[in-house]
Amino acid sequence: MRRAAALGATLAYGSRCARPQVRPWREQRNHFPQGVASGDPDAESVILWTRRPPVAGSAAHRLAVEVARDRDFTDVVATAEAAIAAESDWTCRVLAAGLEPAREYWYRFTDEHGSGSRVGRTVSAPADSDDRPVRFAFVSCQSVTEGAFNAYRRMIYEDERRPRAEQLAFVLHLGDFIYELVWYPEDKPEGRYARKLRDVYRLPNGEKIGDLHVPTTLEDYRTTYRAYLEDPDLQDARARWPFVCVWDNHEFSWQGFQSQQVFDGKVRPAQKLRVAANQAWFEFQPARVSMPGTTSLDRFVAPRVENRPLGERDELGLGLDPDNLAAVRSLKVYRTLRFGRHIDLIITDIHSFRSEQPSGAEPFIPSEFRWAVPQEAIEMLDSGRAYRGGHPPATLRYGGREVPNPAVNAPPQSSLGREQKAWFLDRLRQSKATWKIWGLSQGTLDWRSDYQNLPEGLGPRWPGQGYAMFNGSYFVERGEILDVVRDAKIAGLAIVAGDKHSFWAGRVSKSLPPESFEPLGVEFVTGSISAPGLFESAEYGVPREDPLRALYLHDNPDGTVAPAINMTILHGVRASLTLQKTGDVQQALAQSNPDVAPHLSFADLGGHGYATVRVSADQMETEFVCIPRPIERSERPDGGPLAYRVIHRAKMWGPGEPPRLVAQVVEGDPPLAMKS
Ligand SMILES: [Fe+2]
Repeated sequence: MRRAAALGATLAYGSRCARPQVRPWREQRNHFPQGVASGDPDAESVILWTRRPPVAGSAAHRLAVEVARDRDFTDVVATAEAAIAAESDWTCRVLAAGLEPAREYWYRFTDEHGSGSRVGRTVSAPADSDDRPVRFAFVSCQSVTEGAFNAYRRMIYEDERRPRAEQLAFVLHLGDFIYELVWYPEDKPEGRYARKLRDVYRLPNGEKIGDLHVPTTLEDYRTTYRAYLEDPDLQDARARWPFVCVWDNHEFSWQGFQSQQVFDGKVRPAQKLRVAANQAWFEFQPARVSMPGTTSLDRFVAPRVENRPLGERDELGLGLDPDNLAAVRSLKVYRTLRFGRHIDLIITDIHSFRSEQPSGAEPFIPSEFRWAVPQEAIEMLDSGRAYRGGHPPATLRYGGREVPNPAVNAPPQSSLGREQKAWFLDRLRQSKATWKIWGLSQGTLDWRSDYQNLPEGLGPRWPGQGYAMFNGSYFVERGEILDVVRDAKIAGLAIVAGDKHSFWAGRVSKSLPPESFEPLGVEFVTGSISAPGLFESAEYGVPREDPLRALYLHDNPDGTVAPAINMTILHGVRASLTLQKTGDVQQALAQSNPDVAPHLSFADLGGHGYATVRVSADQMETEFVCIPRPIERSERPDGGPLAYRVIHRAKMWGPGEPPRLVAQVVEGDPPLAMKS
C-alpha cells in the first residue's frame, strides 16, 4: 500500500478470492470522455487510469475499479474504490497489484451512480527470469490539430491479428504526446503545408505569440490533454495496451529547458508553468513516477515556486536557483522497467536538467544552406571548454575568416545533468538483461552530409572546413556514455527515440570519419504519428530555382517529388546531384561517399507511423511501419494504406564486438531511404 501511495495511486490488490463488484456496471462512455488507460506494468502490477468529470449536472466522487482475468468480468481478481476530485481534474490513478506475470487483464471503472467506463485491456510484464521473446511498439510526436492518428489504428489492427505470444507487451511513447503550442484555424487560414488546421480545442488562458497560442496555466495544459485524449484512435490504443511514457519538449514548452521558456531567443523564467506542465502530465499519464521528498500522496503536490532567472549554474549548466530545482524536481520521470530476461528499459528525461543552448551560434549559421551548419562549429559550440579533450580553439575558420569561439569557457552541453547521468551509467553497468533498451525522446545519431564536396559553380560556397551537420548535439556526454559501454564491455545497448519526425536506423559511435568510427550500440528513431517532418517542410519551402534543390528534393518526371534529402544524408551530395541529372538511382548510388554515414543504414525524413521491437536471447528485430502522410483520418479498420514496412535485425553481439544491422524491405518501397 505504501508503494501505491508513493505513486499517487489507490491500491487494488489482487487475490483469487476477490469479491466481484457490488455495484452493477452499465457502460456510459460519455461520462468518461477520455476513456481508460494503463501504464508502466511490472511482473505483478500495473497502473490503471480514467477520468470522470461532472457531465450534464452529474458529478461523481468515488469510482470502483474491477480487474478481471476475462473480458466478461466473471473472474474478477481485484477491486478497489478510489476518490476523485476537481483538484486533480477528476482523474483517477489506481495501482492494480498482486497480478500474475505476462498475463492479460481487463479493467473497468464504475461511479457511485452506476455509470461505467469502457472496458480496458492491459498486460502485466513477464517475470525477470522469463525467457520468452518480448515485442513492444514505440511512438512519438502526435499533433492533433495538424494530422490524424491513423498509425494507432493500424497498430491495433495488426496486433489483433497476431498470435497472443507475438502481441505487443506495451507501447513506449517517447514524447510530444501533446503539442503545447497550437495554431487556431483562423490564425492560419491557409493551413500549414497542405494541411488544414483542425479546430479541436481552445486554450482558456492561452497567450498569443506570433500566430501561435501557448499555455499559461495548469488549466491550459489540462485542456490540451483532455482534447488529445478524445481522439478515438489514441483512446482505443490506450484502452488496448499499457503505455510507458516519457516527455519530449512539447509537454512543457517548445524551446524550453529546465523551468525556462525561450521565445525569439529570449529566456523567460517559467517555474510555475513547469510545475503546471508536470502536474497535468502526472494527472493524465498512468506512469510509475514519483515526487521526490513527498510521501503519502493521492494527488500531485505542487511545490510553491516563483518565476525567477536560473542564477548560478552547476558544472553542467543546471540552474541552482531553489525555485528552478523545486520545479524540475517536482516529478521524477527517469526510471527503469524490466520485461522478462531480455529487456531492461532505461528511460531518461532530457529536458528537465538540460543545459541552456549555447549562445553565439549566429556567425556560424550559413543562411544559404538550409538546416545545415559546419560540423566543426556545432561540435565546438556544443562541447564548450571540453572540445577536443579540453583544448577549444580561440577562433574557428569560417567562410575564409577567423571567427572568435564564443564557447571557449562554456560548460559542455548536457542533456541529462549530473545526477541523472550518474544514475543512468549505474543502471547501464548493473543491467542483467540481455538488451539494455535506452528510451529517450531525442536519439544520438548525427545527420550530416559532405557539403565540402559540392562542385564549384553550384550556388553558394560552403563556408565550413568539412561536413555539413543537420542534427547533432551533446557530443561530450555521448562520448562519456560510450566510453563506459566500451570499457565495461557492455553488449546489447539499443537506443529507441522519437522527436525527429522521421525514421532512422543506425549504429552509435562516438565519432565519424575523418575521426574513428567505432560502433558500440544500435539506434532506431521512429517517424511521427502525425507531426510534419523535414521532407514535408522542404517540399513546400524549397523553391524550384534554389540551386541546391537537388540536395533536398528529387523531381520525378510525373511531377511528384521524392525525398532526395535521404540520399544526401546517407550517400553525400554527389549521389543526389547525379540522381537529379540522370533520374537513375543506381547511377546515383555509384557516386556514394562511404565516409558520410558509415553509422546509418536507413533514413526517411518523410516517414510517419510507428516502430515495433521484438527481442529474444539472440536477436533484436526492429520494424518500421510507415503510413502515407496522415492528413485526414481514415475510416478504414486498418487505419488506411501502408507506405512500407522495413525490418532491421541485429544479432546479439559479444562483449567487445561491434554490432551489425541487416535491413530487409518487407512491403512497399521506402523512398531513397535504404543505405544499400
Ligand atoms: Fe515532435
